[in-house]
Amino acid sequence: MRVLSGIQPSGALHLGNYYGAMKQHIELQHGHECFFFIANYHTLTTVQDAARLRQLTSDVALDYLAMGLDPAKAALFRQSDIPEVTELAWILATVTGKGLLDRAVSYKDKVERGIAASMGLYFYPVLMAADILIYRSNLVPVGKDQVQHIEMTQDMAGYFNNTFGREVLVRPEPKLNEAAVVPGLDGQKMSKSYGNSIEIFLDARTAEKKIKSIKTDSTPVDAPKDPGACNAFALLRLMATPEETAEWERRYRAGGMGYGEVKKRLVELYEAFFGQRRERRAQLAARPDEVEDILRDGARRARLVAEQVMHDVREACGIVTVR
Ligand code: AMP
Ligand code: TRP
Repeated sequence: MRVLSGIQPSGALHLGNYYGAMKQHIELQHGHECFFFIANYHTLTTVQDAARLRQLTSDVALDYLAMGLDPAKAALFRQSDIPEVTELAWILATVTGKGLLDRAVSYKDKVERGIAASMGLYFYPVLMAADILIYRSNLVPVGKDQVQHIEMTQDMAGYFNNTFGREVLVRPEPKLNEAAVVPGLDGQKMSKSYGNSIEIFLDARTAEKKIKSIKTDSTPVDAPKDPGACNAFALLRLMATPEETAEWERRYRAGGMGYGEVKKRLVELYEAFFGQRRERRAQLAARPDEVEDILRDGARRARLVAEQVMHDVREACGIVTVR
């Protein structure tokens, strides 16, 4: 079973990114063959500043390594280090009807949000299908917003296989990230664009300030409280053990406990977990050559598969090259 996912390098990660996506990526490395890549070609649809894209690309590598991605287990690499991906994207485009892309919801959403309606943005799902199909990936862990893209990938695999009469490409399945929606400081979905995020690599003091600013209601200390309606509790249950979560739940319902106490505990839990990883990230950041070696080794492993699949693809459709 091969697991693959792409991560757009889009800046400082927050608790929503970690509990919504990254945590499950890192867990999947135990027991599966995992390929995780940094989707820098996709990010070129929104970030068109060379220095910034380079920075974002190395940041996300540091983030994954600091949070426990083990390069001996999972291959971590840059999308752009596998040239077969863009080659396959073109070939897929030739068997895919334009109508399929016209139905892409994410394209429409992005254009509505003011992102330039470039050909690249329109073509985005084809490149994503190539990312997945080039490694004959079986399982693709993603958030809900990406499921349509995986379904389009399934369609494109079918179009190719049917057109050329060979089962060359493997149909992938999406795997939904388990954490539903992680709320932000104001109780809305945590999102960079809402300005309500708690990033995962904050220094201890900034983290404490942010956590203390989590919005809670004005139920008096003595009164019983509903844990299900509390943003601080929603974050606590992600970070605490099930036993500790159950104990806090009891205390909420019993009354006599103020939200300040929960926030104080959140600060401790944040620091105990992310503080250590922040240190590890700083150490890695001071050794860029080591990180580069990890990315190159990941690319080497991924490319072994990509070259084989691309060979089969060219063979099936009659494209002759000297490679
Ligand atoms: P984004 O950079 O917003 O596209 O998010 C990257 C990944 O993090 C996606 O897989 C999202 O599903 C996940 N994610 C982002 N924000 C949240 C959130 N507030 N709750 C749960 N998952 C999230
Ligand atoms: N589009 C994905 C996102 O925005 C990132 C991505 C690119 C991806 N290629 C992929 C995810 C292939 C899974 C598989 O989150």
